[in-house]
Amino acid sequence: MKALEGKVAIVTGAGRGIGRAIALAFAAEGAAVALASRSRSDLAEVAGEIRAAGGGRALAIPTDVTNDGAVEALVEQTASDFKRVDILVTAAGTAAFASLADTKPADWDVMLSVNLRAAMVCCRAVLPTMLRQGEGTIVNVASIAAKRALPGSAVYTATKAGLLGFSRVLAEELRNTGVRVGVLMPGAVDTPLWDTVGGTPPRDKMLRPEDVARAAMLMAALPPHASLEELTLLPSGGIL
Ligand SMILES: NC(=O)c1ccc[n+]([C@@H]2O[C@H](COP(=O)([O-])OP(=O)(O)OC[C@H]3O[C@@H](n4cnc5c(N)ncnc54)[C@H](OP(=O)(O)O)[C@@H]3O)[C@@H](O)[C@H]2O)c1
Repeated sequence: MKALEGKVAIVTGAGRGIGRAIALAFAAEGAAVALASRSRSDLAEVAGEIRAAGGGRALAIPTDVTNDGAVEALVEQTASDFKRVDILVTAAGTAAFASLADTKPADWDVMLSVNLRAAMVCCRAVLPTMLRQGEGTIVNVASIAAKRALPGSAVYTATKAGLLGFSRVLAEELRNTGVRVGVLMPGAVDTPLWDTVGGTPPRDKMLRPEDVARAAMLMAALPPHASLEELTLLPSGGIL
C-alpha cells in the first residue's frame, strides 16, 4: 500500500518549484491532489504529469491565494470532487531581496500577503473539513530565514518567522483534535524563484525540490499519533 493511498491533498504553489515537486511526490504515493497557483498552463502541465505517471488523480484549480474567496472556493471544490481534505501544503510564495533602506513599504505588500496572510487564510479555510473528519495535516512551507538572520531578507524573513509563529500557535490550538500542523524550513532550493533574484548562491549546491518533497512526505505520511512540527532541511554545504 502506498504511503498516501486514499488521502486528498491541496498543494498551493503547485505549478512550479517546491509545490510542484510535493504535488508529484504525493500523487506518486497515492494521494489525490488539488493543484493551486495562478498559472493555468503550469497547473495543466503538472496535472498531466501526474496522470501520465500512472493514472494519479489531479485537479488543476487556478487560484490566487491572496483572494480569500478563491481560497474558500479551492477548498470547496476539492472537498466536493474528492470528498475529503486530508493534507494542506502552503507552498505558494514569493521572494525579493534587498536591504531595508533600498525598499519602499509598498514593495513589502506582495510578500506579506502571499507568504503570510494567504498561508493563514488557507489554513483557516481547511479547518472546518479537517475538524469534521477528526484528521488532517497542515504543512506550512516557511524557510531557514525564519530562524537565521540573512542580510537583505528582512521583509521575507518577517513573513517566514511570522508563519513559523503562526504554525506553532495553530498546532497548540488544534492539539488533540486529530489535526496536526507542521512547518518546513528549507535552506536554498534550486527553483525558478531564484531566476529573478540577484546575488544567487551557487545553484548546483542548493537542495533540489525533490529533497523538500521527501521532507514534506515524511510530515504528511507519519501515523496519526506522531506529529513532525518543525523541520529544518539544509543543503549539506550550509545555508548558502
Ligand atoms: N527556493 C528556495 O530556495 C526556497 C527556500 C526556502 C523556502 N522557500 C519557500 O518555498 C515556497 C515555494 O518556493 P519556490 O522556490 O518553489 O518558488 P517558485 O518556484 O517561484 O514557485 C512559487 C509558486 O507559488 C505560486 N504563487 C505565487 N504567488 C501566488 C499567488 N498569489 N497565488 C497562488 N500561487 C502563487 C507560483 O505560481 P503562479 O505565479 O503561477 O501563481 C508558483 O507555482 C515559497 O514560500 C518560498 O518562500 C523557497
